[in-house]
Amino acid sequence: MGIMQHTPYTPPQWATSLAPIPSHRIRLGQPPTPVHRWKPPGIPDDVSLWIKRDDRSGITMSGNKIRKLEFLFADALEKGCDTVITCGGIQSNHCRTTAAAARPLGLESYLLLRTHEPQATTTLVGNLLIDHMMGATIIPVSYEQYRRRSELMEDLANELRQQGRQPYIIPEGGSNGRGTWGYIEAIQEIETQAKQEDLHFDDIVLACGSGGTAAGISLGSALAQTSWQIHAINVCDDAAYFYQRIDEIFSSLQTPIKARDALAIIDGYKGLGYSISSPEELHLLRDVALQTGVILDPTYTGKAFYGLSRELQQNPERFQGKNILFLHTGGLFGLYDKADQLLPILPAQPLFHWAKGK
Ligand SMILES: Cc1ncc(COP(=O)(O)O)c(C=O)c1O
Repeated sequence: MGIMQHTPYTPPQWATSLAPIPSHRIRLGQPPTPVHRWKPPGIPDDVSLWIKRDDRSGITMSGNKIRKLEFLFADALEKGCDTVITCGGIQSNHCRTTAAAARPLGLESYLLLRTHEPQATTTLVGNLLIDHMMGATIIPVSYEQYRRRSELMEDLANELRQQGRQPYIIPEGGSNGRGTWGYIEAIQEIETQAKQEDLHFDDIVLACGSGGTAAGISLGSALAQTSWQIHAINVCDDAAYFYQRIDEIFSSLQTPIKARDALAIIDGYKGLGYSISSPEELHLLRDVALQTGVILDPTYTGKAFYGLSRELQQNPERFQGKNILFLHTGGLFGLYDKADQLLPILPAQPLFHWAKGK
């Protein structure tokens, strides 16, 4: 399927009990994303770790959100929409990916971005810089206002309708039933890769921020009756919140499967808070880059990998086995926001040392 093509969608046979089944998708990413063996620091010697590189699903359209947006943008186009509205944190990967996907499809994007200082000028860095480069209309909102995000997006949609536009609202993280199809479908991709490369995974571990990726991966695995167990490490809220959130997504797809039967949420690794990095997390993130060349992001995959390494050391019995697949869900641009914290812990290299003596 060519990139940007709007094509009819046929689900895997095992997913046909779900409803509604999306009729179309738009290919925005470049699957299959690679799966390879990975030997980062902090992992016990008896564990074989693998990594699925959804961080390599594209460039500005990289990371996990692209899989969800393939179904959401297809729906927006089918409904004749010319504008997308979505929301997230000021460094939201989801908002950046939405803005980047909207551009070549000829849609306008409006982003409600949560910030502590909605009135202040925010440094244009990382995802926010790209949002601007993609011509998105940025609407900064306070944490207080963000609690009413669905209402605010509806109000904005009504205002845009009065101006003659056709808006399409994408919920936070693209995490509704339709977006979840991106990761239901990804199970087919992982199964094919495992078969082709003769790999067996006991467990799959991933970060959880708005629940859609964990919902898709766990529902797809339950329906396809795979033997691996899913573990989602929450980077905000708590386990009770995500079991409920994922149950809501499951219900919207009319499945009787329950979140607690489909996955385990590993709570306890949001650390200092959403998008706030502790020195330990950043040290590990740095060491992973130095040792393996893989860059984790500070807000999602860095915290999830920190949690995985701690759990493997302190609580290994919670995993089914020793062959573990870590899903890298992207987020690289979020790293730029942490440059000040990272700089003092990077290996000291004299800059321009080659020029000495010339
Ligand atoms: C890089 C990255 N990883 C993981 C997640 C979590 O995915 P989800 O929102 O589907 O739980 C997000 C977004 O929230 C993300 O941007």
